[in-house]
Amino acid sequence: MKEAEVRIDVDLLDSFVYDVFRGMGVPADDARICTDVLLSADKRGIDTHGIARLKSIYYDRVVHHRTQNPITRIDTVQDRAATAVLDGNNGMGMVIAHRAMELAMRKARQHGLGMVAVRNSNHYGIAAYYVLMACRQDMIGLTGTNARPSVAPTHGVENLLGTNPLVFGIPTDEPFPFTNDYAPSIVQRGKIEHYARQRKPLPEGWVIDRNGRYVTDPEVVLHALGEGNAALLPVGGRGEQFGGHKGYGFLTVVELLAACLSQGAFLEQLSGAVQGRRVPHRIGHFFLAVDISFLTDPEDFKKRAGDILRRLRNSAKAPGAQRIYTCGEKEHLAWQERRRSGIPLLPQTRSEMITMRDELGLNHRFPFEG
Ligand SMILES: NC(=O)c1ccc[n+]([C@@H]2O[C@H](COP(=O)([O-])OP(=O)(O)OC[C@H]3O[C@@H](n4cnc5c(N)ncnc54)[C@H](O)[C@@H]3O)[C@@H](O)[C@H]2O)c1
Repeated sequence: MKEAEVRIDVDLLDSFVYDVFRGMGVPADDARICTDVLLSADKRGIDTHGIARLKSIYYDRVVHHRTQNPITRIDTVQDRAATAVLDGNNGMGMVIAHRAMELAMRKARQHGLGMVAVRNSNHYGIAAYYVLMACRQDMIGLTGTNARPSVAPTHGVENLLGTNPLVFGIPTDEPFPFTNDYAPSIVQRGKIEHYARQRKPLPEGWVIDRNGRYVTDPEVVLHALGEGNAALLPVGGRGEQFGGHKGYGFLTVVELLAACLSQGAFLEQLSGAVQGRRVPHRIGHFFLAVDISFLTDPEDFKKRAGDILRRLRNSAKAPGAQRIYTCGEKEHLAWQERRRSGIPLLPQTRSEMITMRDELGLNHRFPFEG
Protein backbone atom coordinates (compact mmCIF):
# COMPACT_ATOMS: atom_id res chain seq x y z
CA MET A 1 0.00 0.00 0.00
CA LYS A 2 1.26 3.48 -0.86
CA GLU A 3 2.17 5.52 2.22
CA ALA A 4 0.11 8.70 2.75
CA GLU A 5 2.08 11.84 1.92
CA VAL A 6 3.58 13.52 4.99
CA ARG A 7 3.84 17.31 4.99
CA ILE A 8 5.29 19.81 7.39
CA ASP A 9 4.38 23.46 7.93
CA VAL A 10 6.90 25.84 6.34
CA ASP A 11 7.49 27.86 9.53
CA LEU A 12 8.16 24.73 11.60
CA LEU A 13 10.62 23.52 9.00
CA ASP A 14 12.24 26.94 8.86
CA SER A 15 12.92 27.03 12.59
CA PHE A 16 14.36 23.49 12.51
CA VAL A 17 16.63 24.16 9.53
CA TYR A 18 17.86 27.40 11.09
CA ASP A 19 18.72 25.56 14.31
CA VAL A 20 20.57 22.88 12.32
CA PHE A 21 22.71 25.50 10.58
CA ARG A 22 23.37 27.19 13.93
CA GLY A 23 24.19 23.81 15.46
CA MET A 24 26.68 23.20 12.65
CA GLY A 25 28.49 26.36 13.77
CA VAL A 26 27.14 28.78 11.16
CA PRO A 27 26.83 32.32 12.64
CA ALA A 28 23.30 33.70 13.13
CA ASP A 29 23.08 36.05 10.11
CA ASP A 30 24.63 33.45 7.81
CA ALA A 31 22.35 30.70 9.13
CA ARG A 32 19.38 32.90 8.18
CA ILE A 33 20.69 33.18 4.62
CA CYS A 34 21.39 29.42 4.37
CA THR A 35 17.92 28.59 5.72
CA ASP A 36 16.28 31.02 3.33
CA VAL A 37 18.12 29.66 0.28
CA LEU A 38 17.58 26.01 1.21
CA LEU A 39 13.88 26.40 1.95
CA SER A 40 13.27 28.55 -1.11
CA ALA A 41 13.74 25.28 -3.02
CA ASP A 42 11.02 23.49 -1.04
CA LYS A 43 8.74 26.51 -1.27
CA ARG A 44 9.19 26.63 -5.02
CA GLY A 45 8.47 22.91 -5.45
CA ILE A 46 12.11 21.99 -6.20
CA ASP A 47 12.18 18.92 -3.96
CA THR A 48 15.64 17.89 -5.16
CA HIS A 49 17.37 20.91 -3.61
CA GLY A 50 15.69 21.69 -0.30
CA ILE A 51 15.38 19.88 3.03
CA ALA A 52 16.13 16.56 1.28
CA ARG A 53 19.68 17.81 0.66
CA LEU A 54 20.35 19.41 4.05
CA LYS A 55 22.12 16.37 5.49
CA SER A 56 24.13 15.08 2.54
CA ILE A 57 25.27 18.35 0.96
CA TYR A 58 25.70 20.69 3.93
CA TYR A 59 25.46 19.00 7.34
CA ASP A 60 27.63 15.95 6.59
CA ARG A 61 30.27 18.02 4.82
CA VAL A 62 30.61 20.42 7.75
CA VAL A 63 29.99 18.13 10.72
CA HIS A 64 31.17 14.67 9.64
CA HIS A 65 33.60 15.13 6.74
CA ARG A 66 34.94 18.48 7.95
CA THR A 67 35.60 19.51 4.36
CA GLN A 68 33.63 22.77 4.53
CA ASN A 69 33.92 25.72 6.93
CA PRO A 70 30.73 26.75 8.72
CA ILE A 71 32.21 30.22 9.26
CA THR A 72 32.50 32.07 5.98
CA ARG A 73 35.42 34.44 5.52
CA ILE A 74 35.44 36.04 2.10
CA ASP A 75 38.55 37.64 0.62
CA THR A 76 38.33 40.28 -2.08
CA VAL A 77 40.82 39.32 -4.78
CA GLN A 78 39.99 42.15 -7.14
CA ASP A 79 37.58 45.09 -6.88
CA ARG A 80 37.02 47.59 -9.69
CA ALA A 81 34.12 49.91 -10.48
CA ALA A 82 31.76 47.36 -12.03
CA THR A 83 33.56 44.07 -11.35
CA ALA A 84 35.00 42.04 -8.52
CA VAL A 85 36.54 38.66 -7.80
CA LEU A 86 35.96 36.99 -4.44
CA ASP A 87 37.59 34.00 -2.76
CA GLY A 88 35.09 32.11 -0.60
CA ASN A 89 37.81 30.28 1.38
CA ASN A 90 35.70 27.11 1.46
CA GLY A 91 32.89 28.74 3.45
CA MET A 92 29.14 28.26 3.04
CA GLY A 93 28.29 28.52 -0.66
CA MET A 94 24.92 30.15 -0.07
CA VAL A 95 26.44 32.90 2.06
CA ILE A 96 29.24 33.54 -0.43
CA ALA A 97 26.78 33.63 -3.33
CA HIS A 98 24.40 35.94 -1.47
CA ARG A 99 27.21 38.40 -0.72
CA ALA A 100 28.50 38.18 -4.30
CA MET A 101 25.10 38.93 -5.81
CA GLU A 102 24.57 41.82 -3.39
CA LEU A 103 27.91 43.24 -4.51
CA ALA A 104 27.04 42.81 -8.21
CA MET A 105 23.75 44.63 -7.60
CA ARG A 106 25.47 47.47 -5.73
CA LYS A 107 27.79 47.94 -8.68
CA ALA A 108 24.89 47.76 -11.15
CA ARG A 109 23.03 50.47 -9.27
CA GLN A 110 26.05 52.73 -9.70
CA HIS A 111 27.28 51.76 -13.16
CA GLY A 112 24.38 49.96 -14.86
CA LEU A 113 26.20 46.61 -14.77
CA GLY A 114 27.91 44.63 -12.04
CA MET A 115 29.72 41.34 -12.40
CA VAL A 116 31.29 39.26 -9.65
CA ALA A 117 33.23 36.01 -10.06
CA VAL A 118 33.87 33.66 -7.13
CA ARG A 119 36.36 30.87 -6.44
CA ASN A 120 36.77 28.33 -3.63
CA SER A 121 33.11 28.23 -2.75
CA ASN A 122 30.70 25.36 -2.10
CA HIS A 123 27.30 24.26 -3.35
CA TYR A 124 25.08 27.35 -3.48
CA GLY A 125 21.69 25.63 -3.78
CA ILE A 126 19.13 26.78 -6.31
CA ALA A 127 20.47 29.31 -8.78
CA ALA A 128 17.12 31.10 -9.04
CA TYR A 129 17.50 32.44 -5.51
CA TYR A 130 20.23 34.87 -6.54
CA VAL A 131 18.65 36.14 -9.73
CA LEU A 132 15.41 36.74 -7.82
CA MET A 133 17.36 39.08 -5.55
CA ALA A 134 18.12 41.17 -8.64
CA CYS A 135 14.57 41.01 -10.02
CA ARG A 136 13.16 42.40 -6.76
CA GLN A 137 15.13 45.58 -7.47
CA ASP A 138 14.15 45.90 -11.14
CA MET A 139 17.39 44.37 -12.29
CA ILE A 140 18.12 41.50 -14.64
CA GLY A 141 20.13 38.81 -12.87
CA LEU A 142 22.32 36.11 -14.34
CA THR A 143 24.22 33.45 -12.48
CA GLY A 144 26.09 30.25 -13.22
CA THR A 145 27.95 27.78 -11.06
CA ASN A 146 30.14 24.82 -11.78
CA ALA A 147 29.52 21.62 -9.85
CA ARG A 148 30.82 18.08 -9.22
CA PRO A 149 31.84 16.35 -12.47
CA SER A 150 28.72 14.61 -13.79
CA VAL A 151 28.07 15.17 -17.51
CA ALA A 152 29.92 13.73 -20.52
CA PRO A 153 30.81 15.88 -23.54
CA THR A 154 28.92 15.01 -26.74
CA HIS A 155 30.42 11.79 -28.22
CA GLY A 156 32.23 11.15 -24.89
CA VAL A 157 31.60 8.93 -21.85
CA GLU A 158 33.67 10.63 -19.12
CA ASN A 159 31.67 12.59 -16.53
CA LEU A 160 33.72 15.77 -16.62
CA LEU A 161 31.31 18.71 -16.63
CA GLY A 162 29.14 19.80 -13.74
CA THR A 163 25.39 20.08 -14.16
CA ASN A 164 26.22 23.81 -14.38
CA PRO A 165 22.98 25.86 -14.33
CA LEU A 166 22.98 29.10 -16.37
CA VAL A 167 20.04 31.00 -14.99
CA PHE A 168 18.50 34.37 -15.86
CA GLY A 169 16.02 36.31 -13.77
CA ILE A 170 14.01 38.83 -15.80
CA PRO A 171 11.47 41.10 -14.10
CA THR A 172 7.95 41.30 -15.53
CA ASP A 173 4.71 43.03 -14.59
CA GLU A 174 3.38 39.67 -13.32
CA PRO A 175 3.51 38.41 -9.71
CA PHE A 176 6.58 36.30 -10.59
CA PRO A 177 9.64 37.03 -12.71
CA PHE A 178 10.92 34.88 -15.56
CA THR A 179 13.56 32.44 -14.24
CA ASN A 180 14.90 29.60 -16.39
CA ASP A 181 16.15 27.76 -13.33
CA TYR A 182 17.65 24.49 -14.57
CA ALA A 183 20.76 22.56 -15.46
CA PRO A 184 21.67 22.22 -19.15
CA SER A 185 21.88 18.46 -18.57
CA ILE A 186 18.73 16.36 -19.07
CA VAL A 187 18.61 15.98 -15.29
CA GLN A 188 20.83 17.11 -12.47
CA ARG A 189 22.24 14.85 -9.74
CA GLY A 190 19.57 15.82 -7.24
CA LYS A 191 16.97 14.22 -9.52
CA ILE A 192 18.90 10.93 -9.51
CA GLU A 193 19.06 11.11 -5.69
CA HIS A 194 15.32 11.84 -5.64
CA TYR A 195 14.65 8.69 -7.70
CA ALA A 196 16.93 6.69 -5.39
CA ARG A 197 15.02 7.93 -2.31
CA GLN A 198 11.80 6.75 -3.94
CA ARG A 199 13.41 3.51 -5.21
CA LYS A 200 12.26 4.29 -8.75
CA PRO A 201 14.22 3.32 -11.91
CA LEU A 202 15.47 6.15 -14.12
CA PRO A 203 14.08 6.48 -17.65
CA GLU A 204 16.45 5.23 -20.35
CA GLY A 205 18.34 8.11 -21.95
CA TRP A 206 19.44 10.08 -18.89
CA VAL A 207 22.67 8.32 -17.98
CA ILE A 208 25.29 6.27 -19.84
CA ASP A 209 28.08 4.01 -18.62
CA ARG A 210 31.67 3.83 -19.88
CA ASN A 211 30.48 1.70 -22.83
CA GLY A 212 27.83 4.23 -23.79
CA ARG A 213 24.98 1.99 -22.59
CA TYR A 214 22.05 3.49 -20.70
CA VAL A 215 21.96 2.87 -16.94
CA THR A 216 18.64 3.07 -15.09
CA ASP A 217 19.34 2.02 -11.49
CA PRO A 218 19.70 5.29 -9.53
CA GLU A 219 21.79 3.73 -6.72
CA VAL A 220 24.18 2.24 -9.29
CA VAL A 221 24.38 5.61 -11.05
CA LEU A 222 25.16 7.57 -7.88
CA HIS A 223 27.94 5.16 -7.00
CA ALA A 224 29.28 5.00 -10.56
CA LEU A 225 29.32 8.81 -10.88
CA GLY A 226 31.68 8.93 -7.91
CA GLU A 227 33.91 6.32 -9.54
CA GLY A 228 33.87 7.99 -12.96
CA ASN A 229 31.97 5.05 -14.47
CA ALA A 230 28.75 6.78 -15.42
CA ALA A 231 27.86 10.10 -16.98
CA LEU A 232 24.71 12.20 -17.24
CA LEU A 233 23.79 13.39 -20.72
CA PRO A 234 23.42 17.02 -21.78
CA VAL A 235 20.07 18.51 -22.78
CA GLY A 236 19.37 17.08 -26.23
CA GLY A 237 20.68 13.66 -25.17
CA ARG A 238 23.31 11.43 -26.69
CA GLY A 239 24.96 12.52 -29.95
CA GLU A 240 23.88 15.42 -32.13
CA GLN A 241 20.54 14.29 -33.58
CA PHE A 242 18.41 16.00 -30.93
CA GLY A 243 20.84 18.83 -30.21
CA GLY A 244 22.94 17.20 -27.48
CA HIS A 245 25.86 19.35 -28.61
CA LYS A 246 23.84 22.45 -27.66
CA GLY A 247 23.32 21.35 -24.05
CA TYR A 248 27.00 20.42 -24.00
CA GLY A 249 27.85 23.94 -25.23
CA PHE A 250 25.91 25.68 -22.45
CA LEU A 251 27.45 23.41 -19.81
CA THR A 252 30.88 24.32 -21.15
CA VAL A 253 30.13 28.07 -21.14
CA VAL A 254 29.41 27.87 -17.41
CA GLU A 255 32.49 25.73 -16.72
CA LEU A 256 34.62 28.33 -18.54
CA LEU A 257 33.15 31.40 -16.86
CA ALA A 258 32.90 29.88 -13.37
CA ALA A 259 36.56 28.84 -13.36
CA CYS A 260 38.53 31.13 -15.66
CA LEU A 261 37.46 34.59 -14.42
CA SER A 262 38.29 33.71 -10.81
CA GLN A 263 41.34 31.50 -11.45
CA GLY A 264 39.35 28.71 -9.87
CA ALA A 265 39.18 24.92 -10.09
CA PHE A 266 37.37 23.04 -12.88
CA LEU A 267 36.14 19.68 -14.22
CA GLU A 268 37.41 16.72 -12.15
CA GLN A 269 39.16 19.06 -9.69
CA LEU A 270 35.64 19.69 -8.32
CA SER A 271 34.99 16.06 -7.34
CA GLY A 272 35.61 16.69 -3.64
CA ALA A 273 38.02 13.73 -3.47
CA VAL A 274 41.72 13.14 -4.05
CA GLN A 275 42.83 9.50 -4.09
CA GLY A 276 39.75 8.48 -2.13
CA ARG A 277 40.22 11.21 0.50
CA ARG A 278 37.48 13.83 0.91
CA VAL A 279 38.65 17.38 0.16
CA PRO A 280 36.86 20.74 -0.41
CA HIS A 281 34.93 21.01 -3.69
CA ARG A 282 36.39 24.39 -4.73
CA ILE A 283 33.26 25.45 -6.59
CA GLY A 284 33.22 28.60 -8.75
CA HIS A 285 30.28 30.89 -9.50
CA PHE A 286 29.57 34.11 -11.38
CA PHE A 287 26.88 36.75 -10.95
CA LEU A 288 25.78 39.52 -13.26
CA ALA A 289 23.28 42.27 -12.43
CA VAL A 290 21.93 44.75 -14.98
CA ASP A 291 20.04 47.81 -13.77
CA ILE A 292 17.27 48.12 -16.34
CA SER A 293 16.83 51.85 -15.73
CA PHE A 294 20.24 52.47 -17.38
CA LEU A 295 18.82 51.12 -20.66
CA THR A 296 15.09 51.77 -20.61
CA ASP A 297 12.10 52.60 -18.46
CA PRO A 298 11.71 49.64 -16.05
CA GLU A 299 7.88 49.81 -16.15
CA ASP A 300 7.88 49.63 -19.95
CA PHE A 301 10.39 46.76 -19.82
CA LYS A 302 8.29 44.78 -17.38
CA LYS A 303 5.07 45.36 -19.34
CA ARG A 304 6.70 44.18 -22.58
CA ALA A 305 8.21 41.17 -20.83
CA GLY A 306 4.79 40.31 -19.40
CA ASP A 307 3.20 40.73 -22.85
CA ILE A 308 5.70 38.30 -24.38
CA LEU A 309 5.12 35.68 -21.69
CA ARG A 310 1.33 36.08 -21.78
CA ARG A 311 1.30 35.69 -25.56
CA LEU A 312 3.31 32.48 -25.24
CA ARG A 313 1.02 31.06 -22.57
CA ASN A 314 -2.10 32.01 -24.49
CA SER A 315 -0.92 30.51 -27.78
CA ALA A 316 -2.52 27.46 -29.41
CA LYS A 317 -1.96 24.27 -27.42
CA ALA A 318 -0.81 20.94 -28.77
CA PRO A 319 -3.49 18.26 -28.92
CA GLY A 320 -4.09 16.88 -25.41
CA ALA A 321 -2.13 19.67 -23.69
CA GLN A 322 -3.94 21.45 -20.85
CA ARG A 323 -1.75 24.44 -20.39
CA ILE A 324 1.35 26.30 -21.61
CA TYR A 325 3.71 27.56 -18.91
CA THR A 326 6.53 30.08 -18.87
CA CYS A 327 9.67 29.70 -16.76
CA GLY A 328 9.16 30.53 -13.10
CA GLU A 329 5.39 30.02 -13.24
CA LYS A 330 5.29 26.49 -11.81
CA GLU A 331 7.47 27.60 -8.90
CA HIS A 332 5.11 30.49 -8.20
CA LEU A 333 2.13 28.10 -8.26
CA ALA A 334 3.96 25.61 -6.03
CA TRP A 335 4.45 28.29 -3.39
CA GLN A 336 0.77 29.33 -3.51
CA GLU A 337 -0.10 25.72 -2.74
CA ARG A 338 2.68 24.88 -0.25
CA ARG A 339 2.26 27.97 1.91
CA ARG A 340 -1.15 26.47 2.79
CA SER A 341 -0.54 22.71 2.67
CA GLY A 342 3.09 22.49 3.77
CA ILE A 343 6.25 20.88 2.41
CA PRO A 344 6.20 17.16 1.53
CA LEU A 345 8.79 14.98 3.25
CA LEU A 346 9.90 11.57 1.97
CA PRO A 347 10.63 8.84 4.58
CA GLN A 348 14.42 9.12 4.12
CA THR A 349 14.29 12.89 4.63
CA ARG A 350 12.25 12.45 7.82
CA SER A 351 14.73 10.00 9.25
CA GLU A 352 17.63 12.31 8.31
CA MET A 353 15.88 15.16 10.14
CA ILE A 354 15.64 13.00 13.26
CA THR A 355 19.32 12.02 12.95
CA MET A 356 20.49 15.64 12.66
CA ARG A 357 18.26 16.73 15.54
CA ASP A 358 19.53 13.99 17.81
CA GLU A 359 23.19 14.43 16.85
CA LEU A 360 22.98 18.15 17.55
CA GLY A 361 20.91 17.68 20.72
CA LEU A 362 18.09 19.93 19.44
CA ASN A 363 14.70 19.68 21.10
CA HIS A 364 12.38 19.90 18.08
CA ARG A 365 9.50 17.44 18.08
CA PHE A 366 8.19 16.77 14.56
CA PRO A 367 4.47 16.35 13.86
CA PHE A 368 5.20 13.16 11.87
CA GLU A 369 6.60 11.50 15.01
CA GLY A 370 3.02 11.20 16.28
N1 LIG B 1 24.06 24.48 -7.31
C1 LIG B 1 24.25 23.56 -8.23
O1 LIG B 1 25.34 23.02 -8.35
C2 LIG B 1 23.14 23.16 -9.15
C3 LIG B 1 23.40 22.34 -10.26
C4 LIG B 1 22.34 21.99 -11.08
C5 LIG B 1 21.04 22.41 -10.80
N2 LIG B 1 20.83 23.20 -9.71
C6 LIG B 1 19.46 23.63 -9.37
O2 LIG B 1 18.60 22.51 -9.42
C7 LIG B 1 17.29 22.96 -9.59
C8 LIG B 1 16.55 22.01 -10.50
O3 LIG B 1 17.18 21.98 -11.79
P1 LIG B 1 16.58 21.06 -12.94
O4 LIG B 1 17.55 21.03 -14.05
O5 LIG B 1 16.13 19.75 -12.34
O6 LIG B 1 15.27 21.88 -13.32
P2 LIG B 1 13.93 21.36 -14.04
O7 LIG B 1 14.29 20.42 -15.13
O8 LIG B 1 12.99 20.89 -13.00
O9 LIG B 1 13.39 22.71 -14.70
C9 LIG B 1 12.87 23.73 -13.88
C10 LIG B 1 12.74 24.99 -14.69
O10 LIG B 1 11.96 24.74 -15.85
C11 LIG B 1 10.79 25.58 -15.84
N3 LIG B 1 9.69 24.78 -16.41
C12 LIG B 1 9.25 23.57 -15.99
N4 LIG B 1 8.27 23.15 -16.80
C13 LIG B 1 8.09 24.11 -17.73
C14 LIG B 1 7.25 24.25 -18.86
N5 LIG B 1 6.38 23.30 -19.21
N6 LIG B 1 7.34 25.37 -19.60
C15 LIG B 1 8.23 26.35 -19.29
N7 LIG B 1 9.08 26.26 -18.25
C16 LIG B 1 9.01 25.15 -17.49
C17 LIG B 1 10.56 25.94 -14.40
O11 LIG B 1 9.82 27.12 -14.28
C18 LIG B 1 12.01 26.10 -13.94
O12 LIG B 1 12.52 27.34 -14.34
C19 LIG B 1 17.39 24.38 -10.07
O13 LIG B 1 16.95 25.22 -9.04
C20 LIG B 1 18.86 24.61 -10.33
O14 LIG B 1 19.30 25.93 -10.07
C21 LIG B 1 21.84 23.58 -8.89
